[in-house]
Amino acid sequence: MGKRGANYSSEEALAKRARQEGWAARSVYKLQELDRRFRLLNSGQRVLDLGAAPGSWSQYALKRVGRQGLVVSVDLKPITASLSGAVTIHDDAFALEAEQIQEATEGRAPPFDRILSDMAPDTTGVPFADHFASVELCDRALEVAGHHLVAGGHLVVKLFQGPDEQALRARLRERFKTLKSVRPKATRSQSVEIFLVAMGLRP
Ligand SMILES: C[S@@+](CC[C@H](N)C(=O)[O-])C[C@H]1O[C@@H](n2cnc3c(N)ncnc32)[C@H](O)[C@@H]1O
Repeated sequence: MGKRGANYSSEEALAKRARQEGWAARSVYKLQELDRRFRLLNSGQRVLDLGAAPGSWSQYALKRVGRQGLVVSVDLKPITASLSGAVTIHDDAFALEAEQIQEATEGRAPPFDRILSDMAPDTTGVPFADHFASVELCDRALEVAGHHLVAGGHLVVKLFQGPDEQALRARLRERFKTLKSVRPKATRSQSVEIFLVAMGLRP
C-alpha cells in the first residue's frame, strides 16, 4: 500500500475506534496524549474548553475532572455530543464575557484551572491565511487565560504553523513559566497543526 493509503487507513481506524469507544471525534486522542504527557487534567478542576464542538475534548475532560469538577464548553457551532454535567455556551470565543460564564455556571466559574483551545478557523486552502487566523484564535485563548485562568494554571492551544509561530511562542512564554510544543500521534500526517502547552500562569 502507498503512503497515502496507509495514512488514510490509520486515520479511518482511529475514527472507527473513537466511534466504538463513544467519543464524538477522533481528536480526543490528541487531548488524551497531552494529558498523559503533562498530567493536565485532575479530579475537581474547572476546565474551559474553547472550540468544543462536536464535543470529544469536553467528554474526556468531564471524565477526568469528575463530579467535583466543572467543564464549560464553548463553540460557535452546536455541540452534538451528550455532555451530561457540562455547561455549554453556544457563542463566539471573541464575544465571551465573565458575566456570561458566571451566569451559565451559577457562579462556579471563572476562574478556571485549565483552559483548552482546539479552536480552528474554517480553512481557506491558503496556508498563510489559515495560519494567521489560527494565531488570532490562539491569541484570543491567551487573552481569555489572562482574565480567567488561576495563577499557576495551564493553557493548551492548537496552532496551524507558519511565520508568526515564534512571536506567538514569545507571547506565551511571557505569561507562563514553561512552554512545550507537541504534535500528537493522532494528528493527520499532512496537517500543519501543533499544540502549544503553556504551564504555570505567572501571577
Ligand atoms: C477541531 S474543532 C474542535 C474539536 C473538539 N475539540 C472535539 O474534540 O470535539 C474546532 C472548533 O473550533 C470552533 N471555533 C472556531 N472559531 C471559533 C470561535 N471564534 N469561537 C468559538 N469556537 C470557534 C469551530 O466551530 C470548531 O467546532
